[in-house]
Amino acid sequence: MPIVWKKFCDEEKEVEKVKYAGMDEFIIVKNTSYPDIPQASLWQDQEFFLPILFRDTIETLYNFDVRPDDVWVVTFPKSGTTWVQEMVWQICNDLDYERSKKENLMERVPYFEVNNIFPKYVNFPHIPTELQEMKSRRFIKSHLPAPLLPKQIWTVKPRIIYVARNVKDVAISFYHYYKNVQHYHGNWENFFDIFMKNRVFFAPYHTHVYNFWRMRNEENILFLTYEEMKKDHPSVIRKTAQFLGKSFSEDQVNELADFLSFSKFSKIPTLNQDESVTRILKELRKTLPDKDYHFVRKGEVGSYKVEMPKEVIEEFNRWTLKETEKAKMDPDINRVFYNV
Ligand code: A3P
Repeated sequence: MPIVWKKFCDEEKEVEKVKYAGMDEFIIVKNTSYPDIPQASLWQDQEFFLPILFRDTIETLYNFDVRPDDVWVVTFPKSGTTWVQEMVWQICNDLDYERSKKENLMERVPYFEVNNIFPKYVNFPHIPTELQEMKSRRFIKSHLPAPLLPKQIWTVKPRIIYVARNVKDVAISFYHYYKNVQHYHGNWENFFDIFMKNRVFFAPYHTHVYNFWRMRNEENILFLTYEEMKKDHPSVIRKTAQFLGKSFSEDQVNELADFLSFSKFSKIPTLNQDESVTRILKELRKTLPDKDYHFVRKGEVGSYKVEMPKEVIEEFNRWTLKETEKAKMDPDINRVFYNV
């Protein structure tokens, strides 16, 4: 068993803080074997925080059969995954807007480990089984950190698009999501505290991003940021299309950027996830804490500046600088992602 885990047990107060609806046990997971790629030598001490539902199935996920023509969208949660999933699917399906308006994005690009995030009574189809039966080319979303992704990823080398986003915007977005979708009971102070203590699922954030940043020049990996998509989406579309072996005219690129723009995207039911949120809350027998919450929420760069208290911003900045130093990253990365 290369993947080992220990139960998360801290002081009662800390355990209380990390719970969310229906999920009150967590594990800390580590992979003791790592692939034969240079960057993986840094993975051996990395530990990740996950709901207990991973305990019995993480090994199955790790042994999942990867296909060379798969396309994986991998991110830390709230980094713009949904947006990129649709961009990638459109690029590979020659801009089939009609189909995407009919078929839910989560069916076209399934969420690999969703069965491990929500309590079992939120009845999702078993995604690894569905994927096994799915015809190629498959599109797969995952939030798993590099060391916990299926081991064949590193030998079969499918295309992987990794997306990173400013940590403070991620934390804000994650808080709203935790509160409304996971039905988290803590307040924002508690949430930012557990975020910086690496006690939200798939944490630690920095390790997640830095692992892929170090692999950004691999031939099968494309590293994108949410911020560059907001700044100049057409050029990100062109870069992604090239990476996926496709090419489009200027008009087609602009048409896709327009289709994916926040104002349009947030209104398309098969893309905006409103139905999924309603369904999950129904299964959890909960109502939406914030009546005006939407999964596709604000879609801005720097929304932390209005939503996060100044002292929390400073705390996040100090934390990020420390993590960057600890990971021996080029400090330039701070300018790229964190604007600290
Ligand atoms: P906010 O909560 O800051 O608005 P993920 O898909 O990884 O869960 O990320 C969700 C975040 O991406 C949310 O951020 C959401 O609004 C934003 N997002 C989703 N679709 C978008 C789009 N078309 N344009 C810009 N941002 C988008």
